[in-house]
Amino acid sequence: MQVNIPLIKTIDNSYNITIDTLEEKYFDTKVAIITNPKVAGLHLGYLLSKISAKELYIITVPDGEEYKNQDSINLILESLFNHRFNRKSMLLAFGGGVIGDMTGYAASIYQRGIDFIQVPTTLLSQVDASVGGKTGMNNSYGKNLIGAFYQPKAVLIDPYFLTTLPSREFGAGLAEIVKMAITFNKVFFEFLENADLKNAEVLQEAIKQAVQTKADVVAEDEKEHGIRAALNYGHTFGHVIENETKYRRYLHGEAVAIGMVMANNTAVKMGLMSEEEVKRVKTFLEKYNLPINYNIADTEQFYETFFLDKKSSDTTITFIIPNGIGDVKITDEIDKELVLSVLEEF
Ligand SMILES: NC(=O)c1ccc[n+]([C@@H]2O[C@H](COP(=O)([O-])OP(=O)(O)OC[C@H]3O[C@@H](n4cnc5c(N)ncnc54)[C@H](O)[C@@H]3O)[C@@H](O)[C@H]2O)c1
Ligand SMILES: [Zn+2]
Repeated sequence: MQVNIPLIKTIDNSYNITIDTLEEKYFDTKVAIITNPKVAGLHLGYLLSKISAKELYIITVPDGEEYKNQDSINLILESLFNHRFNRKSMLLAFGGGVIGDMTGYAASIYQRGIDFIQVPTTLLSQVDASVGGKTGMNNSYGKNLIGAFYQPKAVLIDPYFLTTLPSREFGAGLAEIVKMAITFNKVFFEFLENADLKNAEVLQEAIKQAVQTKADVVAEDEKEHGIRAALNYGHTFGHVIENETKYRRYLHGEAVAIGMVMANNTAVKMGLMSEEEVKRVKTFLEKYNLPINYNIADTEQFYETFFLDKKSSDTTITFIIPNGIGDVKITDEIDKELVLSVLEEF
């Protein structure tokens, strides 16, 4: 005997990403702004001058990647229960990628899913973390190992928030921007090379192009069965660097910057990239004080650490290697010897 549940339906989860000064908006429902003390101290006044709601609550969780965990999720959920949030209520993520990922995850599980909106305040979260619906948290086994694909209803990117961002955080976001250009869009890379990204209008254009690139990729491959993996360019190497330095020495984007250089060197050995292209990428990274060198203590051990990455299987490692600037190759068939020689020469 068999019972069939016909669940073939098309759900339209499309949403808009607005890159502009925040507009005034009233929500005719309960809204909780999820944020941390730092972002609240800097920008909550501004946000509240734009956003209002029938009932508005502020929920703060401690600031930092180390608090991207179950305790913070519980704190958010309990607060929502206390205030009797229901399926019609709305969460608003107000902060960097840590806040965005956790708010999205809390929204995905609270009463099996309520709506949320992203208001990202770091460059990295504006161009990367807030777009595409990956939500989650860390646990003792690693980063982002628990979570859900859960798309926001809207993303509101106001570049004004970036005026208070420390320059290292700015650079870390730029690393993710140039990642999108190198993997998908040569013209965008050329724009970045020649752009004065300290200029607000130019920066806004760069954010728009990065977001457009990510949006296109997500639209094609939401759950990362294929092309979305290309956005992990620089990350396979970068994650090992973060792991070896215990997540302390480098910001994520900085480790990715070094990782991109390593991937580029691999591309040269595979005949996919010219020395001149490698140089152009390095010049861009250096211009924004991103690191391009790293002292590898033990190349064998570095290689073994690839296998801890959640994108790798027990036997294969997936590498994202540029095929010139503006195109990319996803492969799990690179000889260990070749990778080791890249690491040894680094
Ligand atoms: N979901 C995704 O697709 C995706 C993609 C990339 C990264 N991420 C996640 O994003 C996180 C990293 O995001 P992040 O780089 O934004 O880090 P973050 O959220 O920790 O923010 C960095 C620091 O800047 C502070 N801050 C935020 N806005 C500020 C502002 N306007 N002015 C001054 N300080 C400000 C934060 O409070 C924090 O101290 C990681 O947890 C990563 O896993 C997710
Ligand atoms: Zn990243």
